[in-house]
Amino acid sequence: MDNSIFLLIFSLLLLQSPISASNLHKLKQLRSDFHSQEQTFPSSSSNAIPPTKFFEVTKPIKLPKGKPCSYNVLTHDFAFTYGKPPVFANYTPPSNCPYQSFSKIVLEWKAASKGRQFDRIFGVWVGGVEILRSCTAEPRATGIVWTVKKDITRYQSLLLSNQTLAVSLRNVVDGTYTGIYHVHINVHFYPHESKVETLASGSEIPADLILPISKNIPSDNGFWFEIQNSTDKGLKEFKIPQNAYKAVLEVYVSFHENDEFWYTNPPDSYLNANNLTDTPGHGAFREVVVTLDKKNVVGSIWPFTVIYTGGVNPLLWRPITGIGSFDLPSYDIDVTPFLGTILDGKVHSLGFKVTNALNVWYIDANLHLWLDRKSSRTEGKLVNHIAKPLVESVVSDFNGLNGTFSISAKRSILSNGWVRSSFGNISTSFVQDLTYSSSMVIEKNGDKQTVNQIISFNDSVHSKLPSHVHNFISETQRTFSLNLDSDTLDKGNGTYLAVANITLGFDENKSKNAASGFSKSSLKNVQDGQGTMVVKNNLVISGVGATQQEYKYKSKGFCYFRKVSASNYTILYDKVRKLCNKRLNNGSHSGSASLFFL
Ligand SMILES: *[C@@H]1O[C@H](CO)[C@@H](O)[C@H](O)[C@H]1NC(C)=O
Ligand SMILES: *[C@@H]1O[C@H](CO)[C@@H](O)[C@H](O)[C@H]1NC(C)=O
Ligand SMILES: *[C@@H]1O[C@H](CO)[C@@H](O)[C@H](O)[C@H]1NC(C)=O
Ligand SMILES: *[C@@H]1O[C@H](CO)[C@@H](O)[C@H](O)[C@H]1NC(C)=O
Ligand SMILES: *[C@@H]1O[C@H](CO)[C@@H](O)[C@H](O)[C@H]1NC(C)=O
Ligand SMILES: *[C@@H]1O[C@H](CO)[C@@H](O)[C@H](O)[C@H]1NC(C)=O
Ligand SMILES: *[C@@H]1O[C@H](CO)[C@@H](O)[C@H](O)[C@H]1NC(C)=O
Ligand SMILES: *[C@@H]1O[C@H](CO)[C@@H](O)[C@H](O)[C@H]1NC(C)=O
Ligand SMILES: *[C@@H]1O[C@H](CO)[C@@H](O)[C@H](O)[C@H]1NC(C)=O
Ligand SMILES: *[C@@H]1O[C@H](CO)[C@@H](O)[C@H](O)[C@H]1NC(C)=O
Ligand SMILES: *[C@@H]1O[C@H](CO)[C@@H](O)[C@H](O)[C@H]1NC(C)=O
Repeated sequence: MDNSIFLLIFSLLLLQSPISASNLHKLKQLRSDFHSQEQTFPSSSSNAIPPTKFFEVTKPIKLPKGKPCSYNVLTHDFAFTYGKPPVFANYTPPSNCPYQSFSKIVLEWKAASKGRQFDRIFGVWVGGVEILRSCTAEPRATGIVWTVKKDITRYQSLLLSNQTLAVSLRNVVDGTYTGIYHVHINVHFYPHESKVETLASGSEIPADLILPISKNIPSDNGFWFEIQNSTDKGLKEFKIPQNAYKAVLEVYVSFHENDEFWYTNPPDSYLNANNLTDTPGHGAFREVVVTLDKKNVVGSIWPFTVIYTGGVNPLLWRPITGIGSFDLPSYDIDVTPFLGTILDGKVHSLGFKVTNALNVWYIDANLHLWLDRKSSRTEGKLVNHIAKPLVESVVSDFNGLNGTFSISAKRSILSNGWVRSSFGNISTSFVQDLTYSSSMVIEKNGDKQTVNQIISFNDSVHSKLPSHVHNFISETQRTFSLNLDSDTLDKGNGTYLAVANITLGFDENKSKNAASGFSKSSLKNVQDGQGTMVVKNNLVISGVGATQQEYKYKSKGFCYFRKVSASNYTILYDKVRKLCNKRLNNGSHSGSASLFFL
């Protein structure tokens, strides 16, 4: 039992927390301690070793022509920040820019660290509106650097006025955990190419107003609500202008501590039968439910299984980090059908709950609102709202610590309503269909665990415009897949060999049919990782991780393919192709050589 997976992943690691275990959020990561090995370099040559560059594979941001106006919003060293307020900076829009209208705004997070440190979750807010949620990379003795670039154009309405920028990154620095995070945040404003005033019915036009659905006053842990259990609730009161004609709630979620690996949690019946009191349970299904005025379920989120840079085996994520770990996905819920309910000029509330939750989930949201410039009042009505209760089934078959578990869940939510503005009387329906299935096998008295999980998550927005031939239709299909096999072998003397293989997939198809035309994109992003590590006294004393990733993004006129592989910190191959033309994909084609960057 001593060396069971549960103890390895879940509780042994509690001990390494430098403060008290219950205070820290990153409890379950191992830290690799190759310090002694790396310190065999004389210090002078050690300084000469260039830092390792960590990265998340993602498509580059499509930038307009022209030089951006760039400026540095924050430069800060995050040393011992635990228990201290977030770091604040004055944000001002660019004033000495030759143009004042922007088509793209890009946030650039650049960081460096050296030494030994956990992965830390962090958030960046502008006026209480979260614009980036991310996780730090775990440093090495020889140092690391990484950069995250994010298209923040959708937050434009905020970014054009003076604001307060806040960053919460709770770090602990002491004799053991030496890594300080040296951070630069830059914002780049790209000029407008052409300007067209159109109805923002789902087109890419940023909202006119964004309301923070986050804590009014941040704790040292930022503006997010901290959901501790399935009855706990994050609740925010808000009021909207009475001339809104479209509303989208963007939700950010991340899971930590006892729920960091929620998808591996066994059911409580198994834990109870085996007297496992310290192992996180509540099964392997989680759902974030969003409610309006404490009653209407406006949407549901079945989140992607982001694995942070210290998760499962930290060596898997060096230097290719896990999908979504440097830029956690946010999830959009179209709440336009509910505008009729909230256009009354009164205070309403949005609430967040997490089904089966264990501590702790960080959740907050941004309410994007599009306003009717030609009238001070719009009106609307919710016509239909069907949110059937969640259907969850768990089939358990176990004998002692060995067992198999099948979990499935299903949910669909539909809302339909009309809003009359100067654009006319527009009926909008928003539909979410979600399915979940997981099979978990536990063998070797708990030492070996296999998890195969698939989340399928579709949503659609249909808008009927009165006088337009084209209705607006937007559909998104997502499949999140996770296969995780882990095994531990007792090596005696408090030492274990841990082996883990993982496949993590994020697939997304989007289509949009609007008056402006039809557009479509697809993304297939999959990572395979194989890791081994020898763990002693909660320290990774040796090991190796290898990761292969294939990223394929296609849309009309913009494609991006990347195949990259790394093992033991070294890139084995890295092929990038940016052209959509399939013919050029033929490796033997004479023109292909210049398209690959090895
Ligand atoms: C925004 O901040 C700048 C710099 O502090 C200041 O000069 C300017 O007057 C402010 N603008 C507004 C509208 O408050
Ligand atoms: C759930 O969490 C809240 C907030 O921490 C706490 O007040 C409440 O007692 C908890 N409920 C249960 C059943 O543990
Ligand atoms: C669990 O604890 C109870 C009461 O202490 C004991 O009777 C039972 O045998 C234990 N079961 C296992 C599997 O250890
Ligand atoms: C808007 O259209 C719906 C049907 O699509 C109708 O029921 C409603 O009365 C209309 N509202 C106004 C103000 O015309
Ligand atoms: C999502 O849409 C696809 C294509 O229409 C369908 O095959 C799949 O079953 C849908 N998934 C859910 C959860 O409804
Ligand atoms: C659990 O499975 C292992 C092999 O994986 C076996 O050696 C052990 O006896 C099994 N335990 C029980 C209680 O069946
Ligand atoms: C996306 O579309 C492709 C091609 O139609 C299909 O094979 C794939 O399963 C779809 N992915 C999702 C997430 O629905
Ligand atoms: C991981 O993959 C390797 C190579 O494919 C295999 O030998 C090993 O048994 C796998 N380990 C686990 C725990 O699945
Ligand atoms: C076990 O660890 C102790 C103390 O670290 C050491 O003295 C002993 O030699 C180790 N035994 C084995 C078999 O490695
Ligand atoms: C990993 O790389 C280090 C340094 O280059 C080397 O010493 C070590 O032997 C490698 N490990 C494996 C398993 O290849
Ligand atoms: C790739 O190019 C070679 C040489 O031009 C040709 O023989 C082959 O059929 C092509 N393969 C594909 C899949 O197009």
